[in-house]
Amino acid sequence: MTKYIVQGGKPLFGEVEISGAKNAAVAIIPAALMVDGVCRIENLPQISDVTMCLRILEQLGANIRTINRHTVEIDSRKIHSTRTSMDLCSKIRASYYLIGALLARFGQADVAMPGGCNFGGVRPIDQHVKGFTALGAKVVAEGGYVMASTDTGRLKGATVYLDVVSVGATMNIMMAAAMAEGDTVIENAAKEPHIVDLANFLNSMGANIRGAGTDTIKIRGVDRLNGGTYAIIPDQIEAGTYMAAVAATGGQILVKNIIPKHMDCITAKLVEMGVEVEEHEDTLLVRRTGALRKVNVKTMPYPGFPTDMQPQITTVLALAQGTSLVTEGVWASRYRYVDELCRMGANIQVDERTAVVEGVDRLTGAPVQAYDLRAGAAMVIAALAAQGQSEISGIHYIERGYENIISKLQALGARIHSEDFPDDDALAASIG
Ligand code: EPU
Repeated sequence: MTKYIVQGGKPLFGEVEISGAKNAAVAIIPAALMVDGVCRIENLPQISDVTMCLRILEQLGANIRTINRHTVEIDSRKIHSTRTSMDLCSKIRASYYLIGALLARFGQADVAMPGGCNFGGVRPIDQHVKGFTALGAKVVAEGGYVMASTDTGRLKGATVYLDVVSVGATMNIMMAAAMAEGDTVIENAAKEPHIVDLANFLNSMGANIRGAGTDTIKIRGVDRLNGGTYAIIPDQIEAGTYMAAVAATGGQILVKNIIPKHMDCITAKLVEMGVEVEEHEDTLLVRRTGALRKVNVKTMPYPGFPTDMQPQITTVLALAQGTSLVTEGVWASRYRYVDELCRMGANIQVDERTAVVEGVDRLTGAPVQAYDLRAGAAMVIAALAAQGQSEISGIHYIERGYENIISKLQALGARIHSEDFPDDDALAASIG
C-alpha cells in the first residue's frame, strides 16, 4: 500500500502549473467515440481516470496513439462493440458518458453501471435516462448494465427539462442529441466550464450546439462528426485546491495556466477570508500572510461555489478565527472526511448538510484516510498545514484527479513524498 508522508507546518512558495480539467477530459474522451475519424486531444491531464477512459475506448475498438504525455490521437472509425466491460466501467463514474456517446453514433449502448467516488449517498442517473427516453431511446437496467437502444438506429430531437441541475445529465444528453435527427433543447441545464468545453469539442468536430454555459442549450443534430484537434481547458478544481493549500499553510504561490473567470467563485471566498489574490491574464498570484477570517460557504451549481472544493475550503476554515458555516447544496452527504480532520485537532460538527466549523489555532499531524478524491485533497491540505507528520492512505483516490501532486507540491517547498508499506493483510499473514 502506498501512502503520502507529509511533514507539515511549512508555508508554500513558488509556481504551480495547472493541468487539463479532469471533468472535461472524462466526457470528451467518450465523446471521441462519436467521431468517424481521428481526433487529437491536447492538454489531457495524466491521471488514472483518464487512463481508464482511454482503456475503455480501446476495448470498444478505438485505436489510441499517444503523442506525448498530454496528447493522444483517438481513431474511432473501427469501433466494433457497443458493450463495455464491467471491470473497467465500474471503476469510474464518468463511464455513464459512454451511454450518450454510443447511443448518438450507433443507436445502441450497453454500459456497465458507473462506479467512482462514493459520498455515502446514492448517485442517481434518472435525469440522464429521462433525456435519452425523450430522444426516443428505450432504457433498461439489467444484470449490472444500463442498456439503451432505438428502433430506428437514430435518436430524434426533443425538448428535455431537467428536474435537477445535473452536470452529467446535461453533458450526456448533449452528446446524444448532437447526432439525433432534428432539434433538441435542454432546459435547466448545468453551466459548468466543462459543459462549455464539451460543446466546443463537439462543435469543433462538426456538431451544432448553441447556448452551452447558459441554462438553455440548443442542439441541431448532424449526420456525422469529423476528426479534428482540440485542447482541454485548465482544471478549475485543481487550481482551487492549490489556492486553498496556500491559504492553509501561508506563503505565496503563482497558479499558472488557468482561466481566471472560472476561479471567481473560489477567489471571492478566499478574499473574504483574508487571502490576497492578484489576477493576471492566465495566472493568479495567491498570498496569505495574516490570520484567516471565518466565512460562510454554500455549495451550488456553477457559477456558485463548487461542491468539489467543499472539503478543501472546510479544511482552510478549520484554521480560521471564529465559527464558519459550510452548507452542502449539491450532494446529500459529503462530509465523511470531517472525522479525519477532527483527528488532527479540527473542531467541526456536522448536522446533515451543514458543517459548523469552529476555527482552531493549529492542526497536528496524524495517520488519516482519503475517502474520496476531494476528501483526499482536503487531507493533503490539512497535513501540509499541520504541525508534525501525517500519513495519508487511500491515495489512489487522489491520483484519480490530481496530476503529479507530489512533485507539484515539492516544487512549492512542501515536505511530502510517497512511500510503499506492506498491506495490512500481508502484514497479518507475515505475523501469523
Ligand atoms: N442527480 C439526480 N439525478 C440525476 C443526476 C444527478 O438527482 O440523474 C443529483 C445528484 O444526486 C446530485 C446533483 O443532482 O445531488 C448533482 O449531480 P450531477 O449530475 O451534477 O453530478 P455528476 O455529473 O454525477 C459531476 C462531477 C462531480 C461533481 C458534480 C457536481 C464528473 C465525472 N463528476 O458529477 O465531480 O461533484 O458533477 O459538480 O464530472 C469530483 O470531481 O470530485 C466529482 C465528484
